[in-house]
Amino acid sequence: MATHKVNKELAESVYDLYTQNDSKTSLKKFAISETSNDPELIKDLILDELLLDGNAKQNLSTFCQTYTDNATREIMDQCIVKNMIDKDEYPQTAEIESRCVHILADLWNSPASATTLGCSTTGSSEAAMLGGLAMKWNWRKKRQAEGKSTDKPNIITGPVQVCWEKFARYFDVEIRQIPMEHGRLLMNAEEVLKRVDENTIGVVPTLGVTFTLQYENVKEINDALDKLQAETGLDIPIHVDGASGGFLAPFIQKDLEWDFRLPRVKSINTSGHKFGLSPIGVGWIIWREEKDLPEELIFNVNYLGGEMPTFALNFSRPGGQVIAQYFNFLRHGREGYERIQQTCADHGQYIAKEIEKIGLFDILYDGVGGIPGACWMLKKDVNPGFSLYDLTDKLRSRGWQVASYSLPTDCQDMVIQRVLIRHGFSHDMADLLLTDLKTCIEYFKNHPVAIAMTEAEAGNFKH
Ligand SMILES: Cc1ncc(COP(=O)(O)O)c(C=O)c1O
Repeated sequence: MATHKVNKELAESVYDLYTQNDSKTSLKKFAISETSNDPELIKDLILDELLLDGNAKQNLSTFCQTYTDNATREIMDQCIVKNMIDKDEYPQTAEIESRCVHILADLWNSPASATTLGCSTTGSSEAAMLGGLAMKWNWRKKRQAEGKSTDKPNIITGPVQVCWEKFARYFDVEIRQIPMEHGRLLMNAEEVLKRVDENTIGVVPTLGVTFTLQYENVKEINDALDKLQAETGLDIPIHVDGASGGFLAPFIQKDLEWDFRLPRVKSINTSGHKFGLSPIGVGWIIWREEKDLPEELIFNVNYLGGEMPTFALNFSRPGGQVIAQYFNFLRHGREGYERIQQTCADHGQYIAKEIEKIGLFDILYDGVGGIPGACWMLKKDVNPGFSLYDLTDKLRSRGWQVASYSLPTDCQDMVIQRVLIRHGFSHDMADLLLTDLKTCIEYFKNHPVAIAMTEAEAGNFKH
């Protein structure tokens, strides 16, 4: 009789993955494995662990893309080995980056869209650092030429995303952040004018404030600074943080004057991986004209035997996101971007209307005129038996990730709940969310919360 015996030492991999030795012990967490292991098994064990992550499609807290298509996956796969910085080795990747810069410059109405400068970055944060640095350099050169002190640069912002606080701290610039007030949640011209002086390197309005999704009024700030210049000679540039709005306003708020149509707007940043529809890891910054980017900040790298100007904090960076961005420009075009962004905006407005009908909430942002989404607060005079933090926590049991947080300085008593609507969300998903939200409210009616959750306990995912 023939006997077949597997040598267990040598042939672990013939057994079912979940009966192999590696799956019967814990994965190494503090030191590298001593031995090599079956890649299939290790991959599965790691992917199993990742099941504990939130489901990205139901993440209504993030501004970043959570939807992708097969063509984008293929592009990312083909480009996975290419380094964005190697302009000489990958000249067509460099060429495509440059095309995206000019396409964005054109979309934002640069008077010199074919010749102006700009670059891709890892995201809006790096782009903001570059924009801030350019403003600091320009201000310093002007001050030095006038023989004046350059010790105390300041920058004026509304309630900005943390990247501007980082810029200020890392690059030694005083940040004069205009705090929110009850009745005024955004920067306005009056508050800007209270803070500007000869040491102001620039003013940064945000097109799509992270906390409330509303746009700051760039035109109003622009006009106030024009008047200031006429009266005092102070010439203060504007950088627009269009992390989200840079890819929205050109398509669904076409008449809004926020971009290079306003001569004082010298640079704009945006995130390709937010409403630019590209995979995570790409931002953009564009200067109005070549002269607005100080040449001292430019480094030259080899490119087809010649030199190519670059401006970046990072060196190596993946190239796929940039190619995916170009794909999106060609694949969707103006028409497609407009349809996608408008559809998202419609869903946000629908959710705001339905939330209002519940009767427990005041709508803070109804989805009109800013980023697709909605924000609401609990009405002051109701005691529904839960806080917004409790509601966020309960919604998570159905997979929904909905941010609740208190607003920043001077409005910390205002706790709001916010949903962002991005490509890949449907009307049906909006209905599913609303049904779940109402079920959670019903649950709290029957089981009122004795001790409400705190912001920190609720997860605090507000970005
Ligand atoms: C207004 C604004 N600026 C900057 C950023 C930072 O963008 P990124 O995540 O692309 O670095 C964000 C992120 O949400 C944002 O909303």
